[in-house]
Amino acid sequence: MDTKVIRIEEQQSEEAVIREAGEIVKAGGLVAFPTETVYGLGGDALNPASSRKIYEAKGRPSDNPLIVHIADMEALAAIVKRVPESAKMLAEAFWPGPLTMILEKSDLVPKETTGGLETVAVRMPSDAVALAFIRAAGGYVAAPSANRSGRPSPTRASYVAQDLDGRIEMILDGGDATLGLESTIVDLTAKPPAILRPGFITGEMLRQKLGRVEEDETLFSADSGQAPKAPGMKYRHYAPKGELVIVRGQTEAVTDYIGKELAQMCKNKKKTGVIATDETLDKYKADVPRSVGKRTDAAAAAKGLYRILREFDDEGVEAIYAESFDGEGVSQAVMNRLLKAAGHRVINV
Ligand code: TXA
Ligand code: MG
Repeated sequence: MDTKVIRIEEQQSEEAVIREAGEIVKAGGLVAFPTETVYGLGGDALNPASSRKIYEAKGRPSDNPLIVHIADMEALAAIVKRVPESAKMLAEAFWPGPLTMILEKSDLVPKETTGGLETVAVRMPSDAVALAFIRAAGGYVAAPSANRSGRPSPTRASYVAQDLDGRIEMILDGGDATLGLESTIVDLTAKPPAILRPGFITGEMLRQKLGRVEEDETLFSADSGQAPKAPGMKYRHYAPKGELVIVRGQTEAVTDYIGKELAQMCKNKKKTGVIATDETLDKYKADVPRSVGKRTDAAAAAKGLYRILREFDDEGVEAIYAESFDGEGVSQAVMNRLLKAAGHRVINV
């Protein structure tokens, strides 16, 4: 299959392109599209055959449920059993935006889309191209992140093409994703509501609206010994090809430790990468040194992390060392993804 890549420029006749993308989805095909978090691999959420195609294109196990993307609140009412007060409040505050809610599904949503579950994950993205595309596609777009299973989520169209070229009908190129990290997932069927995946909408922000909100231990800890609650979180995700370890401790101890490891790896003729911050970058002699930005700027780290992980793969890096991110809020989302990329390997120095 030839994958058509179409760059969407402002002022250009993007309407026709988006209409074409919508027609592909309505006919059962797949289109990758930009959102403010990461690129999604979209198919018709109400068509079981489309969901099966998504799993196949991604190489993803079919018990891992998909997020249904919508463009208005009427669509929400149609795909869930009922819209609880909590969902209305969160939608009012955070939609369109980087928040996914888990609710009880209605009969309209096939089991193929929810990985066999009676619940459905729903998100209304804020990206203008995403919203126009969802409307053109009939209003219900099932979309996981548009990467091959096990690769970092794609933050630009060329990364989608790296993973999925020849496997899907079209890629809408809307430039770099503005946030760069997947949406926060909150399970509203749990009592109290529970965060299944941390993101830009933080626990604190949700608590201000809902009162008590539980945060799953397994999201942030190196090794809690518990199984994660979101089906997708049990799979090894976001994994770079090289071996990644996180080094945690006082800044000087961390830079010293990583420095020694890099020297050793150099002797062993291993190609090395480092995930550092602006404050520490020049302390490291690595083959591929990368900064995620200022230490205090968690949003910059969130935006750069997946790009950097892909760059390590492209450069054939074999050993990667990452500083840890231990703040509150968005830092927690960054650390959660880093821990998954590292297979939870953390060295405390
Ligand atoms: O920002 C995002 O959420 C992006 C963009 C494209 O919207 N999408 C995304 O989808 O990250 P995906 O499929 O890569 O991650 C969805 C996660 C998976 O871990 C999945 O297991 C979980 O959501 N999930 C989906 N439906 C669920 C459900 N009914 N119950 C529990 N977890 C669910
Ligand atoms: Mg994903």
